Amino acid sequence: MNIRKIGIVGSGHIGGTLGILLGKAGYEVFFSSRHPEALQDLVKKAGPKARAGSVREAIAFGDVVLVSIPMKAFHDLDAATKDALKGKIVIDTSNPYPERDGQIAEEAKRHPGGTGPFVARLLPGARIVRAFNTVYFDDLRKTVNKKGERIGIPIASDDEEGLAAAMELAENVGLEPVVVGGLSTSKQFDVGSAVYTTSAPARELREKLHLKEKAEA
Ligand SMILES: NC(=O)c1ccc[n+]([C@@H]2O[C@H](COP(=O)([O-])OP(=O)(O)OC[C@H]3O[C@@H](n4cnc5c(N)ncnc54)[C@H](OP(=O)(O)O)[C@@H]3O)[C@@H](O)[C@H]2O)c1
Repeated sequence: MNIRKIGIVGSGHIGGTLGILLGKAGYEVFFSSRHPEALQDLVKKAGPKARAGSVREAIAFGDVVLVSIPMKAFHDLDAATKDALKGKIVIDTSNPYPERDGQIAEEAKRHPGGTGPFVARLLPGARIVRAFNTVYFDDLRKTVNKKGERIGIPIASDDEEGLAAAMELAENVGLEPVVVGGLSTSKQFDVGSAVYTTSAPARELREKLHLKEKAEA
């Protein structure tokens, strides 16, 4: 794939940090939130190709849309916003925390398929990819592109292009993608799993997730 434009819905700790890394890696980044006027600092940090605006503008802009909002905020997305996400590759970083998100997080945790298929049900027609949900934003900020082993990023999706897109973004910001499988396999790296917020390198993720070692190129 040749992705150039990234729309970001939710430009907080993780969306903002990834947006800066993507901007520095040369992507055109469009940050959004309900208060885009407050995102100018991020825009500056993400470099000359970054900008900010409304959620709908960010969705329309992106070849890929990074959705990085608290799970409870899915209820606030109106029908037109959900419509705009139809057909888009949507990289979802959300994690269910009942103490923060309430009932919707309880439902996600109870969902037999885990968070990925649960979010896919909330955004029908979007090409959901689970990625970047396992990594603490401050670990990204502090360790990406520094010496040492790269942080591994587990990725799952039923959409081949979506998988390729998330791999490409992870690689280009200095992380090591680890494809786990179809969307339902994302349950293996949901909140509470053995790999969650460990910031472990890819080889350790593969071991914990019982995946084969990456084939030598
Ligand atoms: N923090 C981490 O290290 C981390 C790591 C991996 C995954 N996650 C997960 O990723 C998600 C985001 O986490 P975060 O820590 O980055 O949260 P955060 O710092 O609170 O940022 C959330 C962003 O979402 C925006 N937002 C909230 N409601 C919205 C809505 N209805 N429509 C559009 N934008 C909305 C907020 O901006 P406005 O209030 O201005 O709209 C804010 O920019 C969560 O599900 C979290 O569990 C977090």
